Amino acid sequence: MIRFRPLAFALLMTSTAALAEGPQLIAPLIPAPASVEAGTGTLTIGEGAGIVAGDAGAKTAARLLVQQVKVVRGLTLAGDAGTGPIRFVRDAGVAGDEAYVLTVDTNGVTIAASGDAGFVHGAMTLAQLLSPDAAIGKPVTLAAMTIRDAPRFKWRGLMIDPARHFVPIPTLYAMVDQLAAQKMNVLHLHLTDDQGWRMEIKRYPDLTRIGAWRTPPSSGGAPGPKVGGFYTQAELKALVAYAKDRAITVVPEIDLPGHAQAAVASYPAEVGVLGDRPAVSHDWGVNPWLFSPEDRSMTFIKHVLDELMDVFPSQFIHLGGDEAVKDQWERSPAVQAKMKALGLKTEMQMQSWMIDQLGEYLAKHGRRMIGWDEILEGGLPPSASVMSWRGEKGAVEAANQGHDVVLSPAPTLYLDSLQSNRSDEPAGRISGGDAIVTLADLYKYEPEPKGLAPDKAQHVMGAQINAFSEYFVTPEQLQHATFPRLSALAERTWSPKSTQDYAGFVARLEPQMGRYARAGIAAADSAFAVDFAVQGTRGDALRARKVPVTLATQAGYGTIRYTLDGTAPTARSKAYGSPLSLKSGVVARAAAFTGDGRPTAVPRLFETSRAALLRRSNSEMVACPGGSLNLRVPLTAEATALAPVYNINIFDSCTMYPAAPLDVARGFSVDVARLARHYGLAHDASKLVPHYAVTTYGELVVRAGGCKGTIAATFPLPDPATSPNRMTFRGKLPEGKGDADLCLQFTQSLESPIYAVESMQLTETN
Ligand code: ACM
Repeated sequence: MIRFRPLAFALLMTSTAALAEGPQLIAPLIPAPASVEAGTGTLTIGEGAGIVAGDAGAKTAARLLVQQVKVVRGLTLAGDAGTGPIRFVRDAGVAGDEAYVLTVDTNGVTIAASGDAGFVHGAMTLAQLLSPDAAIGKPVTLAAMTIRDAPRFKWRGLMIDPARHFVPIPTLYAMVDQLAAQKMNVLHLHLTDDQGWRMEIKRYPDLTRIGAWRTPPSSGGAPGPKVGGFYTQAELKALVAYAKDRAITVVPEIDLPGHAQAAVASYPAEVGVLGDRPAVSHDWGVNPWLFSPEDRSMTFIKHVLDELMDVFPSQFIHLGGDEAVKDQWERSPAVQAKMKALGLKTEMQMQSWMIDQLGEYLAKHGRRMIGWDEILEGGLPPSASVMSWRGEKGAVEAANQGHDVVLSPAPTLYLDSLQSNRSDEPAGRISGGDAIVTLADLYKYEPEPKGLAPDKAQHVMGAQINAFSEYFVTPEQLQHATFPRLSALAERTWSPKSTQDYAGFVARLEPQMGRYARAGIAAADSAFAVDFAVQGTRGDALRARKVPVTLATQAGYGTIRYTLDGTAPTARSKAYGSPLSLKSGVVARAAAFTGDGRPTAVPRLFETSRAALLRRSNSEMVACPGGSLNLRVPLTAEATALAPVYNINIFDSCTMYPAAPLDVARGFSVDVARLARHYGLAHDASKLVPHYAVTTYGELVVRAGGCKGTIAATFPLPDPATSPNRMTFRGKLPEGKGDADLCLQFTQSLESPIYAVESMQLTETN
């Protein structure tokens, strides 16, 4: 007898510790399926289980199932053996190309689908069912059940940006594997930008001979060797085919008319506006170089699109459209003449015309054009679909006009947003001042924006997370930013709208973290790691000689256990209950553990020595009044190892040590790093805050009592061209009554490299 088990209840059951052993009623699945019905009995799948797959699509899914189960469970299934307990069945009754019905009964598992994509999704569900825990290589006993599943949205995307930092092909393959494993179906490749052109174009070889390589910025000394890379068309075709087998479409982007500096550096006479040849950019942000809308340039772009369409069979081609400051067009007599001839009044209309022409060109070839929401500004070309990144307004406006849209609003769906404010978090953006985008923030994102007319909801194709890669130099950094937040978007875009179960999601994510690890993916443990927070000020703790500390994790999952004796915490260590009152000089170590005793993250530690309490790392400094700390950047732009990172405000290199205990501290030493200033600010350059320098290279000025307080010390800065990029300054502090902010201002010119405080150590003697 089949008993219906409502979804919410079924998923809740998975988060109870009782299920960790014995047959799984419902194993943890991400994304949560549309519906699950429990059956009766169990089925055990072990080493050598055979698969029956009829046609080519079924055989592909069977092959993927074998590969995935090997990775996530360490079991070797027998493959398409023509006999065995796992069957793929083509069934026209399962409506929708991506839908599948997976049935487990005492005889076997059947995956029924009408489309090849449904077979792949069903195979990935089964691979998750077969890896509910960390028992690698062990047979798995499944409860009888029927899963009926289909996606909520048809666009479930991840954008990767190999333009800012080249992403090697094997990393792209690994990303495709992970997309498939969680039923995401679009890989958007941002193939061109100011900092690099990454696709071989046979007709225009300089696009990669010149445009794929840039000289890194320098913080003073000689610049390093060029960095970059590109994909051959053969490599991209192979990637597209690999993705297609996994039910994933690769959508290419050629960004225009802005973000064109690498193209203009390669072919200034063909696509440039004012005739000059810039270097390929090493400046992040917004740069002035545009593609010209003149005939010579339009013809060039169409030739590029011809080769692009040959490599990428996707329905959609992304043409960018974002952040194109129009100054070059404003100053070009030829562009102005073109606008006049076309009867266009503004440069935004010129952009709209250009995008529309190219959209029409794509349409003639049976393709559809999509662009960032700026393409709305000059009037939305009739042919266009919109990817909304500056909030949701663009999506709402476009959908209400009847255009298809994809939601990818910053900062929530931007993976370069830091996911925690821990000091061990690698580089990224600190959105909107000091905000972070946690796993929970992403999970709570609802892809159906408010303000959408009820009859226009079908124009929301789905949502996409974007991994813009200014701050991701290595594959590991890209993976850290992407996973596990990708799991959250997978669920938001696949599972029914009613699936809003963060606690259940986190419980289901815990085994998924194991799958990531077994696939060699460097997923972030930021949501599971223990954070230590001192209650009150450090000064209060120093005066009381006791440190009140609370322990928490972002996800709130598992039991936090800690030690104070220098050993690593284990499942038998003391469980954290209420705030700790630590004496001076101990090192607390803590991690959260699952019900069956596995740590969910690497233990983190907290020191209570007086010296540790008097030290502020860069991430514990705060923004100066009027400022915002908005980036966390590495020591050098191309640093590939675990280089130190620095929170900086690119508009004002002023930072504060908050609440310094001036009755306790007598002196200080401050470690300073000099970083390349390489940000294309365009019209935002007017927001730069200058500080008046009184020596050749500027000074570090330390003030007590905030940025208008007394000057405690002034240190002239060295010549950037001849001095190392890290230095230490030592000084005395004026005696004070209690806590006061220390303000650290760098007064170097706005053309010089940026200085950041690496850490500030207060001392009890001077
Ligand atoms: C974008 O972030 N410029 C699309």
